[in-house]
Amino acid sequence: MGICYNKEERIFKLDSINSTYIIEIIDTEGFVGHVYYGKRLRDTNLGYLTRSQEYPFTPEKNNRERVSFLDNFPFEYSTHGVGDFREPCLKVKSEDGTSACQLCYKEHSIYKGKPELKGLPASFGSEEECTTLELICIDPYINLEVVLCYTIFEKLDVLTRSIRIRNKGAKPVYLERALSLCMEFEGINFDVISLHGSWARERHIQRRHVELGKYAIGSTRGESSHQEHPFMAIVSRETSQDKGNVYGFNLVYSGDFFAQVEGTQFENIRFVMGIHPENFQWKLSTGEEFVTPEVVSVFSDNGIDGMTHIYHDFYRKHLIRSKYKDKERPILINNWEATYFNFNTEKLLHIAEDASKLGIEMLVMDDGWFGKRNDDNCALGDWFVNEEKLKGGLKYLVQEVNKKGMKFGIWFEPEMISPDSDLYREHPDWAIQINGRKPALSRNQYVLDYSRKDVRDEIYQRIKDIMESAPIAYVKWDMNRALTDLGSNMLQADQQGELSHRYVLGVYELLERFTSEFPDVLLEGCSGGGARFDPGILYYCPQIWCSDDTDAIERLQIQEGTAMVYPLSTIGAHVSDCPNHAVGRSTPFETRGYVALTGTFGYELDVTRISDEDKQLIPKQVELYHTYNNLIRNGDYYRLLSYREEGQYDAWQVVSKDKSEALVFYIQVLKRPNYRSKVLKLKGLEEKFMYSIQGQERILSGGALMYAGIPIENMPHDFEGKLLHVVRV
Ligand code: DGJ
Repeated sequence: MGICYNKEERIFKLDSINSTYIIEIIDTEGFVGHVYYGKRLRDTNLGYLTRSQEYPFTPEKNNRERVSFLDNFPFEYSTHGVGDFREPCLKVKSEDGTSACQLCYKEHSIYKGKPELKGLPASFGSEEECTTLELICIDPYINLEVVLCYTIFEKLDVLTRSIRIRNKGAKPVYLERALSLCMEFEGINFDVISLHGSWARERHIQRRHVELGKYAIGSTRGESSHQEHPFMAIVSRETSQDKGNVYGFNLVYSGDFFAQVEGTQFENIRFVMGIHPENFQWKLSTGEEFVTPEVVSVFSDNGIDGMTHIYHDFYRKHLIRSKYKDKERPILINNWEATYFNFNTEKLLHIAEDASKLGIEMLVMDDGWFGKRNDDNCALGDWFVNEEKLKGGLKYLVQEVNKKGMKFGIWFEPEMISPDSDLYREHPDWAIQINGRKPALSRNQYVLDYSRKDVRDEIYQRIKDIMESAPIAYVKWDMNRALTDLGSNMLQADQQGELSHRYVLGVYELLERFTSEFPDVLLEGCSGGGARFDPGILYYCPQIWCSDDTDAIERLQIQEGTAMVYPLSTIGAHVSDCPNHAVGRSTPFETRGYVALTGTFGYELDVTRISDEDKQLIPKQVELYHTYNNLIRNGDYYRLLSYREEGQYDAWQVVSKDKSEALVFYIQVLKRPNYRSKVLKLKGLEEKFMYSIQGQERILSGGALMYAGIPIENMPHDFEGKLLHVVRV
């Protein structure tokens, strides 16, 4: 396993337990070609697959048809301007205004472990866990060095890729696109799975056939977005939830992204992924280097569930750094849907009083505690406690909450500025804007220019002062609008195209500072719900608020899409009030609990005002959380039924790694009249083990539970749910 180089054949072979990736250097010019990615193979001599000598497209023997060759060869990293007319990854403009680039292999290095990516979040692994290949390529005409970096995680079937680009020439060049990954697939008989939505409808799964032509997803909003998601899977047509080949690609980045499958003239696929080129240009002066974010690629021949398990294990072990990633998180109650802006010390203490008696462990004070913020029209940036609302100050409030045996958490939106704020009145130039043009408002706010260090330093200091003024155990880091009017007062004209990426780098720098200085604080990412639920944020935050839609039924689809890639331990999920604030639907309190239990679990309601009946269920849910959170955090997640496809039922399951126990969640979304009970087939158990189901007398083998199934009794109403605990006997 690991990486080997066959010198005679000029072949690199990257192996993990179940996957092999092969690269070939061909021809005296050193074109770097993609040979194979898929199920593990022992052979190295597969270079014939690139068919680089197939007449008439042979650069060595028939240079006359060079363009035909360039437009057909499966490049490991595609470039623009010299004859490959498919989607380029790299487009470089020289000072004379021309743009062309052709990469040729120069040398390589192979070493144990994985380097950090400067200024960017990235996965990590020890020398025992992974091996890295760096392919150093050059374009001698413009003196550009491009390093293709591959790290193979041997035990997990994960391959990460990123690119380093260095200007070794005497003059600056301009990167007009610098994507992170190019991958060629033989044939076109594939489907593509991607995630789509909107505010309150994030990450719904979509599957479609790959056709000739291009199908692209992306964000140019400065955030990974509610609408599309930096994830794509390319799967064989016959691939199902548990069978078939799946190639997953996830970009570790929180800003503008682009991913595209292209069915080419020869009925192959070129897939590319990276920073969206639309708002991107980067001036690379002599000696400077640009590093692209990394793509985490996963191969599984065990269907979509197989890919999901690899991503979950990988992110739990090799991406999330917080000390909380392996810990049970305190059950929180957040006051947003309980009070919105209408709260004060007394109200919060009432909530804390009741919540603590029910077993809730932390009070989170959301938006509205600072400046003059009594609605969402003002005060972002004025990170000073509003003592008219919080009589006695923040420290007093936290102490009183602590006295009730609860921890305390707080909300910030550090990247924003309200036009009606003291900060804006003092520094109107700190907002992202194009000089002379009135910037567009969204939620009545502007975005701070985080490419500027002075802006970041001032905001950080304000947050730090609050953090040091009281024992704060948790922070929710929100971000509630997209970037528009891209202009910075500090960037030269030929660097304005850098703002979007520099903004993201600025956010990462601040998150790095915050997590280094406050490692004990539990940090939850958020972006108007789930507009920045991505691996970049997970590197800093062990959990992210998944959606502002807290309705249990809407959440089924949102959490299904999210959990296809991200561990359940990262999915911010709360039991909220009914009728639900987003959709006006009323669902049973138990069902809301089941859905939230498969995330971080917490409450978002006014506990002083809910019915006694609901209130009495809270201690039971708290107990379920404490009993099962270990299993939910660490186990393997399976999708059993999808409301999206079935229309009527939804079910999912978490199985412990040793297969000794499982939790089955079942929701009868719509009650069917005059119908027999639904037979549910479980997954992931050990065929030979015998299992009991809590509350039932029958003992059944794993095989019977998985292949024959168990009937789930009909429930009297819509939206009702059941939780089954299956234990090995
Ligand atoms: C958007 C978040 O998703 C909500 O949970 C809440 O924190 C609001 N922002 C506050 O403005």
